[in-house]
Order: sequence, then structure tokens, then C-alpha cells
Amino acid sequence: MCGIICYVGQKDAKPILIEGLKRLEYRGYDSAGLAVQDGNEISCYRELGKIASLEGLVNGQPMEGTSGIAHTRWATHGEPSVQNAHPQRDQAENVFVIHNGIIENYHLLKKRLEKEGVAFQSETDTEVLAHLISSHFDGDLADAVRKTMGQVEGTFGLGVIHRHAPDQVVVARRGSPLIIGVSDDGHFVASDVSAMVRYTNKVVHLQENELATVTADDFFISTAQAQRIERSTETVEWSAEDVELNGFPHYMLKEIYEQPHTIKNALRGRLEPGEGVPKLGGIMPVWEDLKNCRHMVLVACGTSFYAASVAKYIFEKLTEIDTEVGLASEFRYRKLNFPPNTFMVAISQSGETADTLAAMKEAKRKGARLLGVVNVVGSSISRETDGGIYNHAGPEIGVASTKNFVSQLTTLTLLALLLGRHQNLSLTEGVRAIRALEALPEQVREVLGQASHIEAIAEKYYHCTNWLFLGRKYNYPIALEGALKLKEVSYIHAEGYAAGEMKHGPIALINPEMPTVAVIPKDEMHEKMLSNIHEIKSRKGPVIAIATQGDEKVRDLADDVIEIPHVLDFLTPMLAVIPCQLLAYYCAKFLERDIDKPRNLAKSVTVE
Ligand code: AGP
Repeated sequence: MCGIICYVGQKDAKPILIEGLKRLEYRGYDSAGLAVQDGNEISCYRELGKIASLEGLVNGQPMEGTSGIAHTRWATHGEPSVQNAHPQRDQAENVFVIHNGIIENYHLLKKRLEKEGVAFQSETDTEVLAHLISSHFDGDLADAVRKTMGQVEGTFGLGVIHRHAPDQVVVARRGSPLIIGVSDDGHFVASDVSAMVRYTNKVVHLQENELATVTADDFFISTAQAQRIERSTETVEWSAEDVELNGFPHYMLKEIYEQPHTIKNALRGRLEPGEGVPKLGGIMPVWEDLKNCRHMVLVACGTSFYAASVAKYIFEKLTEIDTEVGLASEFRYRKLNFPPNTFMVAISQSGETADTLAAMKEAKRKGARLLGVVNVVGSSISRETDGGIYNHAGPEIGVASTKNFVSQLTTLTLLALLLGRHQNLSLTEGVRAIRALEALPEQVREVLGQASHIEAIAEKYYHCTNWLFLGRKYNYPIALEGALKLKEVSYIHAEGYAAGEMKHGPIALINPEMPTVAVIPKDEMHEKMLSNIHEIKSRKGPVIAIATQGDEKVRDLADDVIEIPHVLDFLTPMLAVIPCQLLAYYCAKFLERDIDKPRNLAKSVTVE
């Protein structure tokens, strides 16, 4: 999705805006631009392609000024081009606008403006905003933006400057997040914290239909009805180091290696080992209802959906709750008849995924209570819920979700354990589960220790154009996640399948050029998975097995084996996923892909 960074302060705006754009690259984009204001002068440059191209364009250009706006565009209306890049401007080039979201009634507004003689320069919906703000401007930029908000339908996160309103940026939000950053060097506004965390970790979240006038020394939040809002700053846990590569070649690899730490962060302060019970303060507002809940719906998209899919099995194992899981993008089309006291758990790293947000609103309409498992504090999804649990996984910069998946599984396991211990789970079972969770970070480190072995396996097969991933029960979603990881970073076609389905079709695909990754821990499904591997081998299909340490049967059968420590069955997904992440990473490396910013993908899908 598009990225927004604005600055008003005492320092030169240009380098701050360019640096901010680089922090937003991971969100995915096809063009970028910035506008810097110095008194009544505004200089604006836009470029197709990478931020580096824009930086090359503006280096040496006299872009004086201590306030400005900048944008990375992920095209929704109008092809990627300089003309369609932001900032968009009015005809007189007084107003410059950057926008994240979709103006749903822009056709109507555009026709009306053209009838009034406005000549459009771009194919974007955003340009409509520039002309409307220009038409309303009479010296008060916030008021002009407020009047424009009343005319548009759809979603926006906006940053606006005006030639005749120097030393200020006006921002507005409806459906696309905007965060104000407060520092001694001035004020920032960005679509996510990573664009400004290098300068400050003091933030204020703009909320729905709010505007803010931001100057070097202050900011004034107001509603669409011009009512003034006072809001104190929050401190985000993230630091500048979290968004640095720290010597890794890619954020994806850095975040894969962060996973022992990520699990510790998800567990920190949440365990009472002696009681075999987790402590989850964020769900206490709804605890009296939640502890009696007997029907739960887990919804998410992409990798978060696969975490939800693993969690379904974990809830069934540890609790008496009837648990279903649903793709958020499909959920809203279902005829929903929730039993009383149904809870929906929305799982989202970004907390801004439009499909997940839409599914939550639909569930709320049908009477469900809402919980969230979210990584970004103060995000839209977290604000929509009645309670929830933050992952505390820190910023995940790589578009392919890795550490957050493991963090989500840890958090969801804690939730299932807490509920189970208030139902039929015994103290002994609770203590055993907590001990097993506490041992996980070291076990993850053991699996990471096989990275060079996994790299060698990837080198053997990265030229294969089709892969199959198989798993059963807790690890069926790991087969799906493994296939997604490979697809999204290496662009190799891969399918995840329930291993029991092989005879119902996929076995027809087996051939010597198609590797199968079989997740086969020593659990109740082991013998059946062995049969699957035999069937594949007898048809000359190569098998890469992810197996429990010391499994001789698998060692004798599979072409390649990646071993994971023996853990409780419902915890094997947190270990089995790591070889899948590393296989995808190394295949992408050998294929020289843009690993942290895969083509066509965005980190946060804030449009449906
Ligand atoms: C995962 O690798 C993908 N980048 C994508 O599927 C992602 O998991 C999905 O868009 C959901 O995002 P969320 O967790 O921020 O809601």
C-alpha cells in the first residue's frame, strides 16, 4: 500500500523525507515523490520506480525548506507513471496532496470539476482532492481540507500543503492510518511508525475522520465538525535499531533469525509457571464473557490465516470451545448465525488489513464480541476490538511475514491455554505446556543452526518450477504457509496440501522435477505421513522431509532431511515453519529476487 511521510520542523525537510520514504519501501510501491515548502515557494519532484531514482533526481536540486510531504505510490487508479505519482496538485500548483486509500466517488466529482473548467493532469482519484481543497481554500487550509472531506466517499490518509499556508502540513484520516510523531526537531506524520522511528518514538494516533494541523512547534487535532481534540502522546516500543538491517543482507533473514527473541517477547510477563496459567491483561475487559465462550471464529488473511488455521487445532486440543477459522475476504459473504456469546478473534500483523477489518464489522453486526491478536499498537483493527493481545514482535519490515507468524502462534497458544485452564485442562497439563513454551526459543535456535544445510537443499532444487508441500493436522497449515513463502519471495509455483488428499488428485503431479516438502514430526500422523512419502518416492518424486531429530525411518526414505527437536505435538508448527522460511529465502536468493520487496506485493493490504 501507499506510504506517507510528512515533516515540519527546524531541519531541512528534503533529507528527512527521502530517508522516510526508504523506510516505507517495504510496503511495496511503483513510484514516489516529494514536495518541500520554503515560505510561499514549493518545489516538487516525482519519479517512477525505486526511491533511489527519486533521490538521484533531487540530489543537487535546490529544495530549500523545513516542511514537506512525501509518498510512495502503489497504483490503484491509473498506471504507474510520473503524472500519476504523488504529490498530486491543483491547476495553479498551489495545493500539493499525498493520499493513501481510494476515493470511491471520484468519477462523479471529477465530472463536476471538469464541467467547472478544471483540466485534469492525471488518471488518479487523488487529483480530485487537490482541486477540491484549492476551491475551498480561503486562507485556512484545515478548513479547506475539512470541507473536502465532507464531499468525498471512500478512504484516505492525506497530507496537504498550500503555497499560501507556509510552515504547516494538514493531515486527515478516514480508513487509512496516520500517526503523528513528536520530536525536539519538529513534528512528523507517517502511515506507519517505521518511517519516523529513527527520530522519535513518541506518537499520537489520528483517529477516524480527524484532521490535524501540524507545525514545527505544535499540532492541533480536530474533528470533521471542527471540534478541537486533545490527545496525549504514546511511546512505541520500537527503536531505530529495529528498522536497521544490523549486518543481515535482507530484513527477511534478519527477522527469521529474530524468532527466538520474538517468542520470548510474546511470552514475557505472561506466564505463571507454578499455576500452569498464562496472564493476558488485554482480554480482561471481556473476561467474564470470554471464559464461558463455547464458540469462537478466527479470521485473518494470508500468513495470519495460516496461523489461525494452526490455532484452530490448538483450541480444539486445549479447550472445549467449538472453533472455526475463516478467510476474512470470504467471511463477509457467509450467512452468519452466531450462537450466543460467540467471540471472533481477528489476527493481523499490520492491524490494517481491509478484508480482516470488514469481516470484524460484519461479525459485530451479527452480535459477536471482538478480540484481536495484533502486532501494531493503536492500529485500526486493535481499535475495533473489545479486547486483545499485542504480539510485541517489533516492526516486521520484510513483506513476507516470518517472525510475526511464530509470534501469532505463541500468542494464540497462550490464549487457548488460558481458556483451557478455566475449562478441563489440568494443572499438570498447563505446567507442561508452559514449560514447553519456555523451551521453544532455544529449540528454534537449534533449527536455525541448520541454515547452511537448508541453503544447500535450496541450491539443489531452486531451479524446479513447481513444488508441493504436505502436512497433516497441526502441520497442514504449515504446508500452506511453506508454499506461500516460496511463492511470494522466489516466484516459484508451489502448492500446500493436506497429505491425506494426495490420492484424491495431487499424486498425479509427482515427477522427478517436482520436490515435495513433507512435514513429518513424530506425532500421531507419523505413520500416515510415511506412507505418503513412500507413494511419492515410488513415483520418483524427490522428498525434502522436515522430521523429528533421530527419525531413522525418514532418514532412510527421504532425499533430504531437515531435523527439528521433539516438542509437544501442538508446538511442532513453530519449529517446522522455520525450514520452510529458510528454503523460500535461499531459493529467492539463488534466483536473485527482490526478497524484501517482492514484485506486486505490499506489506499491508489496506484496500479490499
Ligand atoms: C505474508 O507473508 C503476506 N505478506 C501476507 O499474506 C500477509 O500475511 C497478509 O496480507 C495479512 O497481513 P496482516 O497480518 O497484516 O493482516
